[in-house]
Amino acid sequence: MHTVVDKAQLSPNVTRLVIEAARIAEIRRPGQFVIVHRGPGAERIPLTIADADQERGTISLVIQAVGKSTEDLVGLAIGEGIQDVAGPLGRETELIESGHAVCVGGGVGTAVVHPIAMGLAERGVKVTSVIGGRSKEWVIFEDELRRAGEVITCTDDGSYGRHGFVTEALKDLIEAGGIDAVYAVGPVPMMRAVAEVTRPYGVPTFASLNAIMLDGTGMCGGCRVQVGGKTVYACVDGPEFDAHAVDFRELADRLGTYREFEAHALEVAHRRATEKDQAAIHAPDGSCLIPALATAAETREAAAAAGEAKG
Ligand code: NAD
Ligand code: FES
Repeated sequence: MHTVVDKAQLSPNVTRLVIEAARIAEIRRPGQFVIVHRGPGAERIPLTIADADQERGTISLVIQAVGKSTEDLVGLAIGEGIQDVAGPLGRETELIESGHAVCVGGGVGTAVVHPIAMGLAERGVKVTSVIGGRSKEWVIFEDELRRAGEVITCTDDGSYGRHGFVTEALKDLIEAGGIDAVYAVGPVPMMRAVAEVTRPYGVPTFASLNAIMLDGTGMCGGCRVQVGGKTVYACVDGPEFDAHAVDFRELADRLGTYREFEAHALEVAHRRATEKDQAAIHAPDGSCLIPALATAAETREAAAAAGEAKG
């Protein structure tokens, strides 16, 4: 069991869980991930190791609650545990040895780019991070990335930092010259757009692909992607690949395969939770067991009746 020792809400639907995983904290490398399994009946979820503390024996996982399984995971309280954490998995990031790198993080992908930025900075590479969110409250990991170098923060609505997408700030940096590599993590349209910004300049660009994963060992084929016309597996050959060679259209299609099932599972879970809440607060005769709610309901009924009488 891997106990949750710390928990923080980073943006409206992004949560950081710090969990006990001493061996993984000791041996993980930038870019690697784990597959977590909360317990019996739960899905297996791939999550990049956003940070690790060898002394405490913990790793940080940053989770965007987008479906039933991720909602269940972020619902864990401090002291509760995750049954299985497999990893570290995947290849470590190909970090350049010197020069100037730009790390681009979009939304929750900003947490994933953090270990890459730190790994580069530790080698003495100059790091500029370009991070983006829809608006101010969606920007994450800004302070953490400052430890690696300059941070340019962008918001889609201009509520904080530079107004616009991360790709606009990246374009200015690339045009100014002197950039040796770009590392991009975020939504697929963002990573595709980053690849198109750097392609004309021939700047080596790496994208971390969030393919659908099941076993994480190259056996199931779930995470297959096309890179340079070849089929490769994000879990064992990646997750990072040459962004100029990735077939982003195919990746987006495959990511959409289970969207309807996921939405349905989430809706069912929410409905069940609501039914459970209703059952918990109502007696068998239908009367409300919580006095404050009962009074509020009576007040609403009385107001409605008065309205009807007036009408
Ligand atoms: P989002 O949609 O809010 O976008 C975040 C930022 O990315 C925006 O502020 C903008 O700066 C940039 N961006 C988005 N679309 C762009 C475009 N078309 N062109 C240029 N820039 C663009 O992000 P979110 O909701 O936090 O991200 C969720 C997505 O990220 C999910 O699809 C998730 O699967 C994916 N994700 C990817 C990884 C990975 O390893 N690549 C990791 C975690 C999550
Ligand atoms: Fe099964 Fe990669 S997750 S092959």
